Amino acid sequence: MLAQLPPASPDPLWSLISAYRADPRPERMDLVVGMYRDESGTTPVPDAVRAAETRLAEAGASKAYRALSGNADFNAGMARLLLGDAPARLARHYTMQSVGGTGALRLLAELVACATPKATVWSSDPGYVNHRPLMTAPGLGFETYRLREAAQGLDMAAMLDDLAPAKPGDVVILHGCCHNPTGIDMRPEHWAEVSAFCARRGLIPLVDMAYQGFGDGMEADAAGLRRVVDDNPTVLVAASCSKNMGLYCERTGAAMVLGESPAALSRVAPLLERIARASYSMPPEHGAAVAAEILAAPEAWLREVEAMRRRVAHLRAALGAALRAEGASAEFAALERQKGMFSLLPLGPEEMRRLREDHAIYGTETGRINVAGLTAAQVGPLARALRQVATPARRASAA
Ligand SMILES: Cc1ncc(COP(=O)(O)O)c(C=O)c1O
Repeated sequence: MLAQLPPASPDPLWSLISAYRADPRPERMDLVVGMYRDESGTTPVPDAVRAAETRLAEAGASKAYRALSGNADFNAGMARLLLGDAPARLARHYTMQSVGGTGALRLLAELVACATPKATVWSSDPGYVNHRPLMTAPGLGFETYRLREAAQGLDMAAMLDDLAPAKPGDVVILHGCCHNPTGIDMRPEHWAEVSAFCARRGLIPLVDMAYQGFGDGMEADAAGLRRVVDDNPTVLVAASCSKNMGLYCERTGAAMVLGESPAALSRVAPLLERIARASYSMPPEHGAAVAAEILAAPEAWLREVEAMRRRVAHLRAALGAALRAEGASAEFAALERQKGMFSLLPLGPEEMRRLREDHAIYGTETGRINVAGLTAAQVGPLARALRQVATPARRASAA
């Protein structure tokens, strides 16, 4: 059997991370992997997580098997975090703990394939690299819509033009906030338009919420999702606690399905549980137990997320100012108004290679950098390096 295995190249992102780790240059910058770092360059464990872990260790709960749907308190807490306190929304959801946001996306893809195996999933271009493999694994079709910068922040006409051929029952992935990889976010009027479009055409929105709290704040970042939930009879949500709780390796997330009424959801729970059972049985308890503790009394944690959010916004402003001081082109100016961890640099693979080889700065081949991976001291050197590697056309000063 082993000889018949098809060849597979290593994951390009993780290959870059390995190359970074092997790079001996002390000034090296890892802007590849999507993790928040503090000023010391480490990915912190929030105090709220440490405190919850201490309480859980003291309580010493048994490690007995849990439910297929995971931790019930976590599921209820995530529903409130995502949907708010509105009873009308809370009456319409089924939420199940998942193995990170990735696991949520896969559970939902499998669920869609059970109902409508010929459905197509529409994801943004550029978009999150894992959407295609996750959605096509159970056999769903996959198409893209353009997500581009425009004067008002997002080219809505291009997006809706590309979505025009979508058929009723097709799924449209929308990033809840802090779009990966572009940082281009939808404003409330964009959400209203795309939400109404989905409702009119019978499309099913799948909101991928991996960065709640990193854009405009925890509540503000959920506003688009809530709009979509209010306008559409069926909505899917994949949520991750990796970034906003710093629970990356604990693999903590939630898959949520909203139906028109509680009755419309009756087939969802047993099906999702079957899908999980045939894959990993039940999700890991630790991260969800920590998150459930935090969500029961979230104030201290919310303050910590807000501090992380402000730090990233400050880094963006500093990078924007440094780029202006270097005379970088107007194309770079968008970095400052974009949201969340990522931005897509206006650089091609050759320029990204020079950034890596000549300056020890690692971003992805496609130009994505993790702004939240920078320290304040790295902003100046990064802006200088960007100016140096940009081709003459891109280097033309905006001034
Ligand atoms: C848009 C998006 N969705 C989902 C995920 C997956 O998150 P998790 O690490 O919780 O699986 C990520 C992680 O980078 C992401 O950027």
